Amino acid sequence: MEVGAQFGDEGKGKVFDYLAADARYVVRTGGGPNAGHSIHLPEGLVVLHQLSCGVLRKGVVGVCGPGMVLQPFALEEEIRELERRGLLLGEVMISDRAHALLPVHEIEDAWQDDFRARRAPSSALGTTRRGIGPAYADRAARSGIRIADLDRPAVLRERLEMMYASKTHLTNLPPIDEMATRLAEVGGRLAPLVRSTEPVLWDALARGERVLLEGAQSALLDLDFGTYPFVTSSHPTSAGALVGSGLPPTEVDSILGIAKAYTTRVGGGPFPTEETGEAGEYLRRVGGERGATTGRARRCGWLDLVLLRYAARLNGLTSFAITKVDVLGGLDEIPVCSQYVMPDGSTVRDVLPAHADEMDRARPVYERLSGWPEFHAHLRERLRREGASALPTTLRRFLDHIAEETGVPVEYVGYGPGRDETLRLPPVAARPARTGVAAWSG
Ligand code: GDP
Ligand code: IMO
Ligand code: MG
Repeated sequence: MEVGAQFGDEGKGKVFDYLAADARYVVRTGGGPNAGHSIHLPEGLVVLHQLSCGVLRKGVVGVCGPGMVLQPFALEEEIRELERRGLLLGEVMISDRAHALLPVHEIEDAWQDDFRARRAPSSALGTTRRGIGPAYADRAARSGIRIADLDRPAVLRERLEMMYASKTHLTNLPPIDEMATRLAEVGGRLAPLVRSTEPVLWDALARGERVLLEGAQSALLDLDFGTYPFVTSSHPTSAGALVGSGLPPTEVDSILGIAKAYTTRVGGGPFPTEETGEAGEYLRRVGGERGATTGRARRCGWLDLVLLRYAARLNGLTSFAITKVDVLGGLDEIPVCSQYVMPDGSTVRDVLPAHADEMDRARPVYERLSGWPEFHAHLRERLRREGASALPTTLRRFLDHIAEETGVPVEYVGYGPGRDETLRLPPVAARPARTGVAAWSG
């Protein structure tokens, strides 16, 4: 399985697409239209929001898993758009247990974040306003509508009435009759794609077929283990991927964490290595750091090993994919945060403070590693031809540093947005030793 190791937008889409080439099933395990996964195909850019990357590959089934909250109208449009472009080469399968995210959830999401912003601008989460929090809240309250319910008029009506009755503070909701009709219609159109997906995956594994679990969002946005309340409402961790797919832990043979060579974040919340001046602007410009879902400018900063160590332990990562190393090409030095110092003088290496405001007070301590050359066409060509042996030595050292400091080997390196701009490194014989970790004592 593959999970994001920072705050999202690590280049997961590109890495999933690369790995999907060898898979039979690729399963999106959580989130919904808040995700934006960009894949640069020879035919042009594709940004997937709800569909799994598997749908872009012939012979692969892209599953929208049971852990997702799906906006059915947007999902239908996403499928149609790929068909129009002739890019829907794989198959689409939708879990009957996934929940439907409705216009009422989108309205509620906006209402909630506006409410927070009015009380104090710094407490606004800056959600994607796609309705994620309210949809998961209704799921937990057992008033949610599952995808299979769209085809069951009595259940659909009962749940809609319950939902509307509990949201009387929202004044601009679409009329309930119209909503019920539109949902039943879209449910009918999607019905041929809807399945009980868990048995399909269990049978595939029993036949020895390869199943990839595709996480959206990332470790630091996890509802429980991220920077609460500045998080999403699902569990984008390896544990969450199991609940979100219905596969047991015993079936997992590797857990790949995807991280950028630097750090970005969209929306509010603590970000210890954020650079608000020139350096941040440089990363945003060269990295093209704009949200793939909302178009918002991403906040940018240097690589944070505290976050990677935390994500490694939380997820049980077996290897890393480090993306966007080309963006740092041409810099003399690359700052890398090795630990935080807290106001009381204690240090933090891999256990994050539980409260976002405490994390806000963390001061990053940097090591400065040597930079590597710019990624000109000549170097890209050599990397394509010769593979890992053509990596600049200083970049190799940067990757080794990540492995040594986190105890997790680097298996893949991304050096451009293109489908063929990912390298697999030779397998590491032994796991690098873990460095001593001092627990946070605040
Ligand atoms: P995701 O949400 O993790 O799938 O990431 P996004 O698609 O939201 O954002 C990642 C951005 O970086 C996209 O524009 C990708 O095309 C781009 N990208 C991915 N990997 C690389 C890489 O190795 N180098 C460069 N320069 N861009 C990359
Ligand atoms: P991918 O899969 C980056 C962030 C939002 C906001 C917080 C809560 O493309 O990496 P939500 O709408 O989920 O309630 O917003 O989480 N967020 C993401 N940031 N990439 C994502 O997905 C994100 N999905 C949610 O910006 O701060
Ligand atoms: Mg994204």
